[in-house]
Amino acid sequence: MGIASRLKAEAAVLREHGPADLLLRLPRYTARRVVESYYERRFGIDTRGDLMQNALGVHDPDAVHYAPSPYLGFFKAMKLVGADLPSSTFIDYGSGLGRIVICAATLPFQRVIGIELVEELNRRARLNIARACRQFICKDVSVITTNATRWRVPPGASVFHFYNPFLSETLRATVAELARSLRESPREAWIVFNSPWQMSTLLTADEIIPQSWQKWCGDVRWPFSRDISKTDPHGSRYFIYRIDSR
Ligand SMILES: C[S@@+](CC[C@H](N)C(=O)[O-])C[C@H]1O[C@@H](n2cnc3c(N)ncnc32)[C@H](O)[C@@H]1O
Repeated sequence: MGIASRLKAEAAVLREHGPADLLLRLPRYTARRVVESYYERRFGIDTRGDLMQNALGVHDPDAVHYAPSPYLGFFKAMKLVGADLPSSTFIDYGSGLGRIVICAATLPFQRVIGIELVEELNRRARLNIARACRQFICKDVSVITTNATRWRVPPGASVFHFYNPFLSETLRATVAELARSLRESPREAWIVFNSPWQMSTLLTADEIIPQSWQKWCGDVRWPFSRDISKTDPHGSRYFIYRIDSR
């Protein structure tokens, strides 16, 4: 972003949120950086940064670039998940450099699986997993390179994490496969969705996951982030959906 557009953006924030918000920005930013560094060091991993698929040789118009979920946001969201973790499989759709796979593996899940489109990201995720694995409670942790639309959901999978990994038809097909699995093996499932712009529309539409399966929805804001719910109700927030197809 150039200086002119940066100043324009700051002026818009000032108009919308007032000067107090600008003053709070530095402490919020610092707190976010400190927390991120703490977890990266604690696990001995490197999962920060934004990476574009094009630069990694993958061209998929529905794919969203790699950017990691915030650690504290994820752990806060998981507190609302009422699944029996020791009998549950956790899936991270679009697992990137493995941050959420690693965080989930520190919880007592039976199995943790990351699904990632780009093999280069998975190669680096495996290095991260190898560095962090001594801190895992879950002992069955893997990442698979495939397009999420081609992956069949196993019957034991019951916690599904997304951080807007893909849009449009790819999201629709992936959620349809999830619904197929829930129909074939009726069970309770939890969708833990970070910033669910298109997902919330899909769920309201009642087409793929029937409303009658949707039992509860809660949301949590990412810690140390501005409340942007007025302009973007799904931004900087985790939404947790409890689904029951029984
Ligand atoms: C926003 S990042 C999320 C990373 C991680 N889940 C997290 O929350 O920290 C989205 C990831 O989804 C991956 N992705 C995009 N399209 C995909 C697809 N069709 N199948 C599997 N992964 C995909 C991207 O390569 C990227 O690594």
